[in-house]
Amino acid sequence: MVGVLRAVAPVVSVIAMNSIGSYVSARGAGLACPDWPLCPLVMDELVLLEFAHRAFALVVLVAVVAVLIPSMRIGGTARKLAVTGVILLVVQIAIGGAMVLSALRPELVALHMASASSVLAVFAMLAAHLIFGGRG
Ligand code: HEM
Repeated sequence: MVGVLRAVAPVVSVIAMNSIGSYVSARGAGLACPDWPLCPLVMDELVLLEFAHRAFALVVLVAVVAVLIPSMRIGGTARKLAVTGVILLVVQIAIGGAMVLSALRPELVALHMASASSVLAVFAMLAAHLIFGGRG
């Protein structure tokens, strides 16, 4: 049995991540940190904004690991969805880094968006399965 809060935490954190990412893009802050994974620590609004998007990936990771552990124990569909979500999340973070190192190559920006949607879809399915699976 996985609590509702733990099941929905990855969904909520990925939605927040997507919004922060769109804000970074709309503010033109995508290259405010020209390097990856580190960022020059300067008190500039756009640098802090771009770094907040990267740093928030750690919050997402914590939420994901917190649901991965019980899903591995439950097995079956829960395990398959959780493992798929973790793989997609790692790929998503790697694409984010590649995007910065390539100075926002359009193909990678598009892939980052596609991958973000896939991560959200998988954790939404996992949450639905953990909360409602096997009932009515
Ligand atoms: C949970 C992981 C992540 C999610 C769900 C995510 C999601 C998103 C989304 C939805 C956007 C907006 C895309 C657009 O409007 O075109 C975005 C933008 C961006 N993301 Fe991420 N992201 C993640 C991790 C990262 C990481 C680790 C980096 C590392 C550098 C990164 C770098 C960026 C950059 C630079 C932009 C702005 C691109 C631009 O200026 O067009 N992201 N992200």
